[in-house]
Amino acid sequence: MKAVFYFRPMQNNQHIGVFDSGIGGISIWKEIVQLLPLESTIYLADSKYAPYGGKSQDEITQLCIKNTETLIALGAKIIVVACNTATTNSIEYLRANYNIPFIGIEPAIKPAALQSKNKSIGILATKGTLNSRLFSSTSKRYTQEIDTIEVIGTGLVPLIEQGKMNSSETKKLLTSYLTPMIAANIDYLVLGCSHYPFLLPVLKELLPSQVTIIDSGEAVARQTKAILEQTKTICTEDIHPVMHQIYSNDATPVIEDIIVRFRESGQIPLKTAIQVAYKDF
Ligand code: DGL
Repeated sequence: MKAVFYFRPMQNNQHIGVFDSGIGGISIWKEIVQLLPLESTIYLADSKYAPYGGKSQDEITQLCIKNTETLIALGAKIIVVACNTATTNSIEYLRANYNIPFIGIEPAIKPAALQSKNKSIGILATKGTLNSRLFSSTSKRYTQEIDTIEVIGTGLVPLIEQGKMNSSETKKLLTSYLTPMIAANIDYLVLGCSHYPFLLPVLKELLPSQVTIIDSGEAVARQTKAILEQTKTICTEDIHPVMHQIYSNDATPVIEDIIVRFRESGQIPLKTAIQVAYKDF
């Protein structure tokens, strides 16, 4: 594969590009929109090729290349890989081959391991993430003295993509995935897939109240801000109308529903300009 370099300097009025295998990364996108209200974004939901979790590293990298090149063509100044599976399998390749900053997301093992009093934490993630070299090296670094119960969330992403966050099928799967974690007396559950924050209400229902659930969304938004500041491409004043474009390559009404819920719950200001559209990529 050939390396692609862009010599055009990035401007602060360009968009923040975000992609995920589907709607999951919207949970990260929301944190970015909250933290950086002067920034415009373009989000790619690669739902047509979801889930990534069971694919080979090479297949995941090919999909990341496609998404990256689409976002660069649309004028992104930075790319947030809002997918743990894509980050843990392919971000090294992306950083080596494209001259644009990449922010990745990885399961928040470090804070969970450091704060666990029971010395027992659960990690729910995709097969692709749990089997990756990047995940296993991070996990080794922080969990020497900790029991880690790693469970693959098989079947959860397709259900979330269909908007079935609260269905009996989802609850049944989650119950079976959480059982060994509860038996191991975990006090932290790490959500290692950006789709899983959409399961928070159900997870809270199923887990003992002393279990803290953590994900990496806020940390990714903070890191995005830090890199924009460092590269002097952050929007510091209202220099252009803020606009968020969300593209999916699969006809899905779920994104619209999620945005409505974010607006209604005040997680996103009502007046935020958001356009959701189908796009082939
Ligand atoms: N949302 C993604 C993640 O964070 C991908 C899930 C999938 O497509 O399997 O891992």
